[in-house]
Amino acid sequence: MTGGHLRLVVCGAGPAADIGRLLEIARGRSWTTSVTATTSALGFIDVAAVEEFSGQPVRTSYQHPPAEPRVLPDVDAVVVAPATYNTINKLASGIADTYPLTSVAELIGRGVPTVVVPFVNAALAARAPFRLSVAGLRDEGVRVVSGPGDGWEPHPPGAGGARQQVFPWQMAFDLARELAQRRAHR
Ligand SMILES: Cc1cc2nc3c(=O)[nH]c(=O)nc-3n(C[C@H](O)[C@H](O)[C@H](O)COP(=O)(O)O)c2cc1C
Repeated sequence: MTGGHLRLVVCGAGPAADIGRLLEIARGRSWTTSVTATTSALGFIDVAAVEEFSGQPVRTSYQHPPAEPRVLPDVDAVVVAPATYNTINKLASGIADTYPLTSVAELIGRGVPTVVVPFVNAALAARAPFRLSVAGLRDEGVRVVSGPGDGWEPHPPGAGGARQQVFPWQMAFDLARELAQRRAHR
């Protein structure tokens, strides 16, 4: 697939500061991008720089009044990264009390390929709600990158700073692109 549109949904965790890396990787593959940020993520990202790079508004909330027709392009794949403990659990439970959650819920329901890359420490990842959420999302066909087989695992509490440096942006894009390609050829 040469080119498509990637929706990046960014949550409030350290690697959010580096989303420019994913945007650049996508552009290198002729993909366009748009960014949806949770309210918490806004504290980590440079909104103006992201908007300038992607050419799209960073969306955090619904438009009032709703624009007709929709201003954002059709989405070929979704990457939720970094995905927080909070967002993963809410998404898996069907909680949709914000624009980012509702939009991802709908995109998953429409069968749009979705890759979730958690940035969660091992103490949180050991909790039953998180394990159930990951399993539930996978059951629905969401590609959750977490575990020894994925080459990306929860980090020890306190090790987030170092782990942020090796956040798997390239893997996230490659998986999203591969899933989108597969869907396009079905
Ligand atoms: C500096 C800072 C770093 C954080 N790092 C993480 C993190 O690595 N993983 C995580 O799940 N939550 C982290 N949090 C907590 C989330 O931001 C918090 O749970 C928030 O409610 C998540 O909202 P969101 O899921 O809507 O983005 C961090 C918070 C702050 C202030």
